[in-house]
Formats: sequence, structure tokens, C-alpha cells
Amino acid sequence: MSDPVVIRGGTVAEASWCAPADVFVADGRVTALAEPGTPAPRGTAEIDAGGMLVLPGGVDPHCHVGFTSGDFTSLDDYAQCTTAAVFGGTTTIVDFAIPRPGQAPADAAHAQRAKAAGGLCDSALHACVVDWDETVPDQLRSLVADGMPTVKMFTTYRGETMADEDTILRTMSTLRDLGGMVVIHCEANHIIEDTQTRCSHDGRIGAEHMAATRPELAETASVAEVLAIAESLKAPVYFVHQSTPEAVELVAAARRRGLAAYTESVAHHLVLDDGLYAGAAPERFVCCPPLRPRPVVDGLARHLATGEITTIGSDHCCYDVAQKESRRSDVRAMPNGLPGVETRLPVIFSEFVAGGGLPVSRFVELTAANPARMNGLYPRKGTLMPGADADIAIWDPSARWTITSGDLHMATDYTPYEGMTVTGRPRTVLVGGRVVVHDGVLADATPRGRHLAANPITSAPARR
Ligand code: URP
Ligand code: ZN
Ligand code: ZN
Repeated sequence: MSDPVVIRGGTVAEASWCAPADVFVADGRVTALAEPGTPAPRGTAEIDAGGMLVLPGGVDPHCHVGFTSGDFTSLDDYAQCTTAAVFGGTTTIVDFAIPRPGQAPADAAHAQRAKAAGGLCDSALHACVVDWDETVPDQLRSLVADGMPTVKMFTTYRGETMADEDTILRTMSTLRDLGGMVVIHCEANHIIEDTQTRCSHDGRIGAEHMAATRPELAETASVAEVLAIAESLKAPVYFVHQSTPEAVELVAAARRRGLAAYTESVAHHLVLDDGLYAGAAPERFVCCPPLRPRPVVDGLARHLATGEITTIGSDHCCYDVAQKESRRSDVRAMPNGLPGVETRLPVIFSEFVAGGGLPVSRFVELTAANPARMNGLYPRKGTLMPGADADIAIWDPSARWTITSGDLHMATDYTPYEGMTVTGRPRTVLVGGRVVVHDGVLADATPRGRHLAANPITSAPARR
């Protein structure tokens, strides 16, 4: 139970409107959005939000916590990842339960779910199917019933998480009937492996050649194939970390034909480009799909304004420099992924709201409301309407600051945004009505994280 609080004097930004309002909170929930100056009951604490935006806390739909792939495990646990999240204004993460080879999806999900209590904020989980067998339909049924209706699949990473087309089709078909949805990483593995083999023969397989080893064509081909499966089944599908405008446009065209198909982009694909692979530390930017050329990045970012991008995630993967450097001579053996749960909101706000004219409401839609909708968490998360959990980022829209890894809280020793000066950051962050971060200081480190049982996706319609 949290004490009553009123947040006064700020401008509330929801996904569809933005206006001055006082936010009343009690028992961990928003109780009212009221005219500025509305009297508060005796005993209500006041937080001054003059000059601030008052936002629903961010919902990160794509966040890997303690993720094992190949020889590497990313370095954070729930306490560390969610501490970094709340410093960055994100108050809900959606993690993945990726089975280890031979592990059943439901077993992986139950093991990962048990970790949620270590978090400073709430979390939900995507389950994951790699191989099909006769037990999978029952596992999917129990996963959806247990609040895990979204299931991650991959068309790449052979021998780890890659699923074949039959498995994708059967999983999609089963989930469609259960109110679930496949969320999928699309890169055509045969094209990637062939390209990597040719690159290695030419001595171009180190981190500095990352972009060439995973061509845009591989993403386009895989998205087209998975869309065809989804359309033949009339099954919903959500594409994670789409990195090219072409891929986004394939999904948008399918949506116009009536398919429930959605695009997630992630912050690094919207901001950083493949010029970083020519720099001094290319391994720090190795992720899948790779960073793309500047015109592709700009083409992708234009879809923030067209509405064709549904959500922005972080694809947070907390490897450190030693892990990244250890296999830098061969991208096939490298740990893929970038740390980003803490920087997602500030970087996107700075580049596209402060620096690019994106409306604040669209920012909230992309980073909080739509991620909550797509994951069966709305309207408990992603909004400040009465009844929602009081997870709130009081955001200073004009704070100028320079990102440097020593000031961040992620369990790593670098950030891909090192030295970037940005505008906007959270000043105060509340989780469940309690202040957890204020002026850059952790005010409450008590782990109160809950695993969120998500609603079936069919009952949480997305606007896009
Ligand atoms: O490079 C990435 N994205 N690593 C994390 C795993 C995944 O593919 O999402
Ligand atoms: Zn992926
Ligand atoms: Zn990922």
C-alpha cells in the first residue's frame, strides 16, 4: 500500500492527448486526473511537477535479462536490469524465457517467471518455441492461461533458437486459437550463413564487417516468408527489431490487407548507423540485425511519424567490453546485442521529440501505451487513466546531459551512446505510487517486482 500522493503542476501526456492536469495516486494506483489546483484530501503528499511532463512509465517490450546464447550470458539479473530501467523512466519490462537446448518452453518460462520478485518494477514474459513436438500445444495452452500469450520465435541462430517454417506455422496457428501471438526475429538464416561463409573466405568476418555479414535482404526475405504464413492462417504476428523501411513497409502493406501485423523498432536501429563498425571499437555495436547505413536509418525513423511503427523497444542485452572483445575477430562467435534499457527513452525523446518534432503523445504511444497493448498489459500499464498502476515518469523535457557509461546503472562498462549529448530525462520516477528515483538518486531499492499475467492479445486491441 502506498501513501496518497498528488503530482501537481505538470503536463500529463497520454498516447492520445496532452494537457495540464494534477495526478492523484493512492494504494499504488492512479485515482484521478484532475484540474490543476484541485484540493487534495488531508494527508496527501505533494510532488511539484512544474515545468515537467508527467508520463506513464515506459514499457519496454523487448528486454533480455541474464540471457544465455552460445558461450555467453548477459550480465544482469532482475534487480540490476530494473534498477537501470527505472533510472531511464521505464517501469515495466517484458523479458524472454528462452529455453536452453532440450528444455521445454513451459519449464523455461516458469524458471524465468520466478525471478520477477527481484525487480524494482513489474515485468512480463515472452515464452519461446524452438522445436515442435506433440507436447507443445498443451504447453502453449498453459502458457496463455498463465499470462504468457506472446511467444518469441527466430528464423536465425541455427542450433540455438532457430525454428523451421513448420514449427512457426504450427505455433502461430495454435496461438491464434488461444488468443496468443508469435513475436518473431526475422533474418533468413540460409542467406546469412552463405554470406558469412563468403565473407570469411575473403577475411571479412571480424566485427568491423558486421553489417556486410547480415544483409538487409536476409531480413526482407524472412519477413515476407513469415507474413505469408501469417496471412494464410489469418494469425496475428509481431515483428521484433525491424531495422529497414522495406521490412516495415511489408508489414504495413499486410496490415492494410487486413492482417493483424505489427512492427517493433529498437532505439539503436533508429539512431545509430553502420559507420560505427569502421570506428575504433566495432565489437561494441555488434547486434542482430546489424546497424544499417544512414539512409536506411533515416528511412526507418521516418516511419515513426507515418504511424507504421507500432512500438519502440530496447532489445537490451547487457554484455560488457571484455565479452564483446573476446570474439571480435569472428562475428559468428560473438555475443550479439547492446545494452539499452536505461537509454531507450532519453535517446528517443532527444532525437525525435526534442530534436525532431515528434509529438510527445506519439512518443508515449510508441514507448508505453502500444507496448502495453501489444503485450496484454493495457490499461494496467502504459496509461495514467484512473485505475492504472501508478508507474509514472516525471520528465524534464529540457534537461541537457551527456550520456556516459559511468553515470548509468546497467550491469556493463560501456554504452553505445557514449559521449552523446541529449535533451530530456526523467527527474522523478514512481513505481506503484512510491518514488524510486529522484534527481538521479535511488530513493527506494526495495524489490517489489511482480510477474504480470498478461491478458490474451485478442482482448487488448492495439490502435495500429
Ligand atoms: O543482437 C541481438 N538482438 N541479440 C539479442 C537476441 C535477439 O536476437 O534479440
Ligand atoms: Zn532478435
Ligand atoms: Zn532481442
